[in-house]
Amino acid sequence: MSKILVTGGAGYIGSHTCVELIDAGHELLVIDNLSNSSIESLSRVEQITGKPVTFEQIDIRDARALNQLFDSHTFDAVIHFAGLKAVGESCELPLEYYHNNVSGTLNLCLTMKAHNCRNLVFSSSATVYGDPASLPIAENFPLSATNPYGRSKLIIEEMLGDLHRADSAWNILLLRYFNPAGAHPSGLIGEDPNGVPNNLLPYISQVAIGKLEQLRVFGGDYDTLDGTGVRDYIHVVDLAKGHLKALQKLQQQPGCKAYNLGVGNGYSVLQMVQAYANASGKKIPYQIVDRRPGDIASCYADASLAAQELGWSAELGLDEMVRDGWNWQQKNPDGFG
Ligand code: NAD
Ligand code: UFG
Repeated sequence: MSKILVTGGAGYIGSHTCVELIDAGHELLVIDNLSNSSIESLSRVEQITGKPVTFEQIDIRDARALNQLFDSHTFDAVIHFAGLKAVGESCELPLEYYHNNVSGTLNLCLTMKAHNCRNLVFSSSATVYGDPASLPIAENFPLSATNPYGRSKLIIEEMLGDLHRADSAWNILLLRYFNPAGAHPSGLIGEDPNGVPNNLLPYISQVAIGKLEQLRVFGGDYDTLDGTGVRDYIHVVDLAKGHLKALQKLQQQPGCKAYNLGVGNGYSVLQMVQAYANASGKKIPYQIVDRRPGDIASCYADASLAAQELGWSAELGLDEMVRDGWNWQQKNPDGFG
């Protein structure tokens, strides 16, 4: 057992990871500024696990609060989810994104360094591969960014690489998530987007439940099996389990290393629509419209490095993702309320 600080732990991926960490016997402390989440998610984590969750409402940009926290606790490692993640919003509010994601992470690392905590798992994204020249995408592919959100992830990855080069006592795992989907099978926690969802599955869910009229499929003329965009959707519970493996890996003192967390194959938008319609028994009306600026045709992972070096691979498939996503949506039509 070890003591883990989880930043952004009230959010979608964070809350699912808290469940897995608690079930595996880790002691947690969660911080979050609740800018994109509800404290209710952590009550649900307590309900699922039957264990209390220690929470402090802290913004990672608040150096004083972070230092006080590290003064009163000794953490073996930090899992760092806290960040803003909406691509479109990042184009409108680039400074807010750099401030939150980059300055926040910088602040966190300075505090960790001052308190001699040098084990970090960072939530990166497949977006750091930009528009890849070929598929599947391996960790050694060239990196680039097409929007401020992606650039914030890239800057942080580079900063963390510099940190390890300067001081090899740091162990840092950069987990590049592909497209998280689904929810905990209990239906107690899941994705609860603010306003109209940007991402495909929450949007489809809200069409299925009747909150939104129809899906707009962004582009029907991509060079893919049916002309619609292909992504590597990964069940959020599988993703959460990847963090347990990452914590184990940190004990081997790996230095700074990046791993793809994806399934290793992709589904098109229309395949996702069909799968969701089957799982829910609902019609998902859709209309094919223009491509969304900045989107790429296809994106899926070469997931072999994580299998070899972390001993992790996805166990759940598309059926479980849509089944659990629909279960969450039905039980919580208004999210956490
Ligand atoms: P989320 O918004 O549900 O969770 C992020 C959490 O961080 C939220 O609870 C939010 O309130 C909190 N937060 C934001 N800024 C903060 C700050 N300054 N101080 C303290 N807390 C703060 O998002 P998620 O989907 O769970 O994503 C978690 C991480 O994974 C993010 O870093 C995101 O960029 C990354 N990621 C997400 C996806 C995805 O599609 N969901 C894909 C790749 C990477
Ligand atoms: N799509 C639609 N209609 C919608 C929403 C999405 O057709 O209403 C399509 C997109 O064009 C794309 C696919 O569904 O082909 C997936 O789109 P998402 O917005 O769900 O996901 P993205 O692949 O664009 O991006 C997501 C996160 C990024 C992250 C990336 C890789 O939003 O932050 O996955 O992890 F970087």
